[in-house]
Amino acid sequence: MEAIAKAHTNIALIKYWGKRDETLFLPMNSSLSITLDRFYTTTAVQFCSCLNKDVFLLNGQIASEAETMKIVAFLDHVRNIAGKNMYAIVNSVNKVPTAAGFASSASGFAALAAAATKAIGMDTDNKTLSQIARQGSGSACRSIYGGYVEWQKGEEVDGSDSFAKPISDKQDWNLSVLSCLVASNEKKVLSREGMKRTVETSPFYKGWLDTVEKDLVQAKRAIAERDFEMLGTVVEANALKMHATTLGANPPFMYWQSATLEVMEHVQQLRTSGIEAYFTIDAGPNVKVICHQKDEQAVLEHLATLPSVQNVYLCHPGPGISYLPDTATEN
Ligand code: ADP
Ligand code: DP6
Ligand code: CO
Repeated sequence: MEAIAKAHTNIALIKYWGKRDETLFLPMNSSLSITLDRFYTTTAVQFCSCLNKDVFLLNGQIASEAETMKIVAFLDHVRNIAGKNMYAIVNSVNKVPTAAGFASSASGFAALAAAATKAIGMDTDNKTLSQIARQGSGSACRSIYGGYVEWQKGEEVDGSDSFAKPISDKQDWNLSVLSCLVASNEKKVLSREGMKRTVETSPFYKGWLDTVEKDLVQAKRAIAERDFEMLGTVVEANALKMHATTLGANPPFMYWQSATLEVMEHVQQLRTSGIEAYFTIDAGPNVKVICHQKDEQAVLEHLATLPSVQNVYLCHPGPGISYLPDTATEN
């Protein structure tokens, strides 16, 4: 009863920020992302009646109690659906920095959902898999699919209509995403805690909710019309709004560092000099820059010269989940 699955991270163009139900991971708003080819997680799951507890290995190390608890809760959910009672060994390798704003929770729980359901003997379609992955980490529901993906928030209290699906238009739009590493350490405020605190205490959260669905409509229209300026403008504004909500929280917090601002300013300068590039930032200090493929080398060279940028990873739209033969351990 073993299976190995691979899932790629995704970068949110329109952010998921806030839950209306924390147990079921139901979001306050719909969101939109690009799955990335460059970053991924490979997870092996083996269920065995020989085990007396779940074991979670992350990057070759036994994970902490707190980290393991999240995996146990997720596996309990899978065991419940499958009607089986066995413990598992989960062996996961992140080819992405963990908990640094590069969406390791998205690739991590998408890979775990795919591997665990297969290992336990379920034959799961992608819609169901997206709903299961959602209950490990919200953003993971989008990493089931490749390309441009929308997570519709849904209306039902049981979450039955809250899952991701590829947007129908322009999946072949091969934009470039340059992921700039300015800090690889784990964030102090995990996404889960950050969005919860913001929903509960930030007076700016209402402003987020009042405008985010309109941003999503505009981003989808921009993709359908291949209007890069329209897309970049709404993507950048949406990211700034999300981060603004954290400043109003109690206690307040921010994911940016001075290096974050340096990259943001540089991207705006690139635009002044005639290169179309826009930034977005998830819950962390690292900046992702989107541009046309024809400009990617020029943008990369500019960003790589900044003293505060440790590395620039060139990414493109990547694939959805896949399964690996049982004998493989990573890649
Ligand atoms: P990120 O920006 O990396 O998504 P989050 O704060 O959203 O950061 O989530 C980090 C958490 O995601 C980790 O503390 C861990 O619980 C979970 N996570 C990261 N990688 C994996 C993985 N490979 N398998 C399962 N869970 C993972
Ligand atoms: C800012 O999906 O990591 O990256 O559902 O609590 O696990 P949990 O949070 P997570 O939040 C992602 C927040 C974001 C925006 C996004 O990816 O849409
Ligand atoms: Co995350």
